[in-house]
Amino acid sequence: CLVRHYKFNVVLKNTTKLCSSKPIVTVNGEFPGPTIYAREDDTLLIKVVNHVQYNLSIHWHGIRQLRTGWADGPAYITQCPIQPGQQYVYNYTITGQRGTLWWHAHILWLRATVHGAIVILPKRGVPYPFPKPHSEKVLVLGEWWKSDVEAVINEALKSGLAPNVSDAHTINGQPGPISNCPSQGGFTLPVQPGQTYMLRIVNAALNEELFFKIAGHQLTVVEVDAVYTKPFKTDTVVITPGQTTNVLLTADQNAGNYSFIASPFMDAPIAIDNKTAIATLQYSGTLASSRTILTAPPPQNATSIARKFTNSLRSLNSKKYPARVPLKIDHSLLFTVGLGINPCKTCVNGSRVVADINNVSFVMPNTALLQAHFFNISGVFTDDFPGRPPVQFNYTGTRPINLATTTGTRLYRLAYNSTVQLVLQDTGLIAPENHPIHLHGFNFFVVGTGLGNFNSNRDQNKFNLVDPIERNTVGVPSGGWTAIRFRADNPGVWFMHCHLEVHTTWGLKMAFVVDDGKGPNQSLLPPPTDLPKC
Ligand code: C2O
Repeated sequence: CLVRHYKFNVVLKNTTKLCSSKPIVTVNGEFPGPTIYAREDDTLLIKVVNHVQYNLSIHWHGIRQLRTGWADGPAYITQCPIQPGQQYVYNYTITGQRGTLWWHAHILWLRATVHGAIVILPKRGVPYPFPKPHSEKVLVLGEWWKSDVEAVINEALKSGLAPNVSDAHTINGQPGPISNCPSQGGFTLPVQPGQTYMLRIVNAALNEELFFKIAGHQLTVVEVDAVYTKPFKTDTVVITPGQTTNVLLTADQNAGNYSFIASPFMDAPIAIDNKTAIATLQYSGTLASSRTILTAPPPQNATSIARKFTNSLRSLNSKKYPARVPLKIDHSLLFTVGLGINPCKTCVNGSRVVADINNVSFVMPNTALLQAHFFNISGVFTDDFPGRPPVQFNYTGTRPINLATTTGTRLYRLAYNSTVQLVLQDTGLIAPENHPIHLHGFNFFVVGTGLGNFNSNRDQNKFNLVDPIERNTVGVPSGGWTAIRFRADNPGVWFMHCHLEVHTTWGLKMAFVVDDGKGPNQSLLPPPTDLPKC
């Protein structure tokens, strides 16, 4: 294994999209940002230099960061931000992971433009568990706002209302032609007839789950969140913000141009966003000007398509890549995740939207939780996060009116190597929505999911403990629940939050603190000397 060096210069770059220009925060002037290439077991040294006027931090989404929480990146959770003019070297080893992950800014809403893919190849000489593709291509799906993204969320926080949706979806930074800016280009993917390609798809959008499909072609899913899956064929991929999906695509149709799209999926009664990013799959020898075979986006609320896709996901669970599902459980937790309304005198409607887990809307501290944990600084957090909702109610019905949202910087403490079963129960109370929940520092197994209220007597014995999908981000269905299991084998402080950025902002987040073990290599490493100060 190698040590690989990268340099991320965070700079403003004037960028034109949708026929208008604005300066955006970028890494090395690129949008999407540069792809990081590495192999399993390599060590990465990524020097991030902050040349913009914002505080900054970068998260390496899905990298386990075994004992190196200092390099995880969420601002005020594992590090203080890198201040303007300062720099920090993220130093970590990729242990036992290979596949597609990604990186993004983890402070404010900067990840709208500060993100890119991480491609981790298997160790030298180790093949994929599927036929080697002719070539590979990264596809980063994103969102674009014509206005300043920080202004969008600040305005929403002031008014107490939901923020404006983006003006376009993008595929590798390109929306494709849209009606009020027909000159806007789209991304083109050239292919040769008969060849098979691996597409590494990342959903970097701030607030939208997405459908992805290619006209006239089937896709074979082989990996999600850097974990191999049992291959299956689908014409539509469903991907939440935070997730990654690798598919094989064979150019097995008549030569021509085929459109491929990313369009929003939202399991909500009202359609508030119907924009679609359009790109082109172009067979070699086809003229750009020749006819393009189109594909229609699924209806925005096509829940059945989404459910069919997620229900098809299984870990490969082969001899070489076994699914190590925890069978004996030390902590059995039930977390409600959802939105609520709290009074607010200065807001437009006299109320503001909030979000919480078990009725706690998380308050960001002023100093990094990991430092407070490591140096035993008191008064920064408490470790009394409730393992159950404060009162039992019909979670998918009406929330009791006397249940006001509380606030706090409360963590849940786990002993080293203890095992956790966590049922995430959506409270679809004000706006039913899927919540893509992301856990830092771990992969987890998705052992069950269903609609309505979780009922342990009925649901628990139907769990898949053999080959459940293993991943780092999972969509909790609107008006339903998802059960995950993981082993707390990574000491440190680990953030868990909804990857819809607006919900995180409203407080749908918490953190686990995992104590050191007693054995060798079971404790958090000491902080690097250049760790930013608050
Ligand atoms: Cu991809 Cu805490 O985030």
